[in-house]
Amino acid sequence: MRKNIVAGNWKMNKTLQEGIELAKSVKDALAGKKVNCEVIVGTPFIHLASVVEEVKGSIIGVAAENAADKASGAYTGEVSAAMVASTGAKYVILGHSERRAYYGETSEILKNKVLLALENKLTPIFCIGEVLEERESGKHFDVVKKQIEESLFNLSAEDFGKIVLAYEPVWAIGTGKTATAAQAQEMHAFIRKTLAEKYGKEIADNTSILYGGSCNASNAKELFSNPDVDGGLIGGASLEAAKFMPIIEAFN
Ligand code: PGA
Repeated sequence: MRKNIVAGNWKMNKTLQEGIELAKSVKDALAGKKVNCEVIVGTPFIHLASVVEEVKGSIIGVAAENAADKASGAYTGEVSAAMVASTGAKYVILGHSERRAYYGETSEILKNKVLLALENKLTPIFCIGEVLEERESGKHFDVVKKQIEESLFNLSAEDFGKIVLAYEPVWAIGTGKTATAAQAQEMHAFIRKTLAEKYGKEIADNTSILYGGSCNASNAKELFSNPDVDGGLIGGASLEAAKFMPIIEAFN
């Protein structure tokens, strides 16, 4: 059956030293606790190797927040999936709405990123989600379906089985406005149905679909109690162990 996952996305926050300290405080807070979900921290590239080292021996997995759409070569400033994997990170967040909106990441670019991540044995945490205008005009289901189709439906069933999805309504990210539990469940069920139509029920049922967008200690339990919400991708509330822990413990 699919896994429950709580993944932090630090975005462009924390110096290297602050990041190591944060990883350590999450590790310390988890020590000796029994939790019912996988725990991941998504960090900037420069933190990866040190954070991997810091959380060694704990249950924490480490994710990059991006990786290049090219394998290697003359792409100044880019970081490849192979480089990410070489740090010991096991996951990579791809297609975050901030990458799509501010850095021009198209479905086609993301398709390459997913392939390279999989080639390098990284688990993509692939983000999808509509902007407010699309929801208000009733297009949210079509938008999300298209994002999935265009970047992921080229994958074989076997490869698709390695993907984690994160539904993040853009209007809820960093705004303090969360989708209601009912809105999240409705979209997650729709996503799972879309996956079932393409890859069959078993793969759809085994795919973890996380919710993201102002998820925090006070709403996590309600959001995660929905049958099709398998955890969260957490931005702001992942920047302090004291705020991140109750979200992880929402699964207890
Ligand atoms: P937020 O960010 O929790 O700060 O809304 C979530 C995300 O963008 O992944």
